Amino acid sequence: MTQDVQREQWGSKIGFILAAAGSAVGLGNIWRFPYVTGQNGGAAFVLIYLAIVFIIGFSVMLAEMAIGRKAQLNAVGSFSKLAGGLWPLVGWMGVAAGFIILSFYAVIGGWTIKYFIHSFTGLMADAAAGKAGDVFGGFVTNTMQVILYQAGFMLVTIWVVYKGIGEGIEKYCKILMPALFLILLILIGRSVTLEGAGKGLEFYLKPDFSKITGASISAALGQAFFSLSLGMGCMITYGSYVDRKTALPGAAIQVCFIDTMVAILAGLVIFPAVFAFGVDAGAGPGLTFVTLPSVFAKMPGAMIWSGLFFLLLFIAALTSAISLLEVVSAYFIDKGWSRPQAAIIMGLLIFVLGIPSAMSLAGAPKVAGKDFLDAMDFISSNVLLPLGGVFISLFVGWFWTSDAEKEVTNEGTLTFGLMSMWIWVCRVIAPAAILYIFYTGLKW
Ligand code: PFF
Repeated sequence: MTQDVQREQWGSKIGFILAAAGSAVGLGNIWRFPYVTGQNGGAAFVLIYLAIVFIIGFSVMLAEMAIGRKAQLNAVGSFSKLAGGLWPLVGWMGVAAGFIILSFYAVIGGWTIKYFIHSFTGLMADAAAGKAGDVFGGFVTNTMQVILYQAGFMLVTIWVVYKGIGEGIEKYCKILMPALFLILLILIGRSVTLEGAGKGLEFYLKPDFSKITGASISAALGQAFFSLSLGMGCMITYGSYVDRKTALPGAAIQVCFIDTMVAILAGLVIFPAVFAFGVDAGAGPGLTFVTLPSVFAKMPGAMIWSGLFFLLLFIAALTSAISLLEVVSAYFIDKGWSRPQAAIIMGLLIFVLGIPSAMSLAGAPKVAGKDFLDAMDFISSNVLLPLGGVFISLFVGWFWTSDAEKEVTNEGTLTFGLMSMWIWVCRVIAPAAILYIFYTGLKW
């Protein structure tokens, strides 16, 4: 490992927070959180989700950041340096998860580019004529086109990672994250002032505790891990570029806060609009690409609203995709590859692995009865991330505890009021909760 070369660093604390929040805020927040919440009891689900994020999610995030900053290496290298033995396997699982998640994530990222452009080139007319479903069906079964957009999305991702930490990831996240927030606020303003918006707010936020079951708690945990980018060493990698002065607990809380706020706010765009126009809200994943265009088509200035929304989705997806590619590239860069080499070669390989996912939307290939894209999602989100979370927590809670305490207090120069809670969550609560939910909720 080339440690004589000065490691790249974030230029500022806010740069680090925005980059980490950029990783966390993604398709998971805007595309997935609102419909999972809608299906699982609205505000009752949000309450459980909040508890999981701020107790378990925060603890695992801080654990990852501490490991990365201490070791100053990628996810695999960090475990080799701090512990050795079998521990690097946890890092390997993370690199594999990053590889797999980005492969299908870029396919959906490609859809957002297509939908952004198409918002201005006919989508609104078709959607107004009730044909949004046909447009979507026509697009995803046109494999060549899907792959082309996927390639476009990967190229942008590779470009940013190629440019590096300060000049690439940090610079773009510092522009894109505020832009994302602004677009979100504009869209909320439009949505909640529509006539009939109140019914949507009620559906989204009225607590229905009867819908809270083991399955919905499991859904909240899975959602939290995916949404916060946990369990695969992403925060280890980003943490390795943080300077020694930054207070990690504060940074972790802020990232959890931004991520959760964006998720909740995304629902304030979607549900009021859907209800105001009397469209079916239970549309699941299709909500974003079928239901919403039909809703936008009914508003004055349809193209603008649709364009803004898909731009929002594209930005969210891009800043997350960047972090996924960085996790994979960082491993090879620490092995001595140049950054351009790692970003381009890994980006291309991930693109190739994504091709079956792109094709699976047209019906083939399947893996044990599941669409390829769903299978990749399942293996990474439901298996690799939770397992990674268990091992990372156990590592900090049992094996690396006193060093971890030193790392999060900057060698004792800061006080961290939640220290004993953090350690106990890592030691027992997080692993037990994740394993229980993993065991009960693991249905192919
Ligand atoms: N957090 C991203 C989202 O919510 O869409 C997805 C993700 C990014 C997961 C990076 C894991 C990761 F390392």
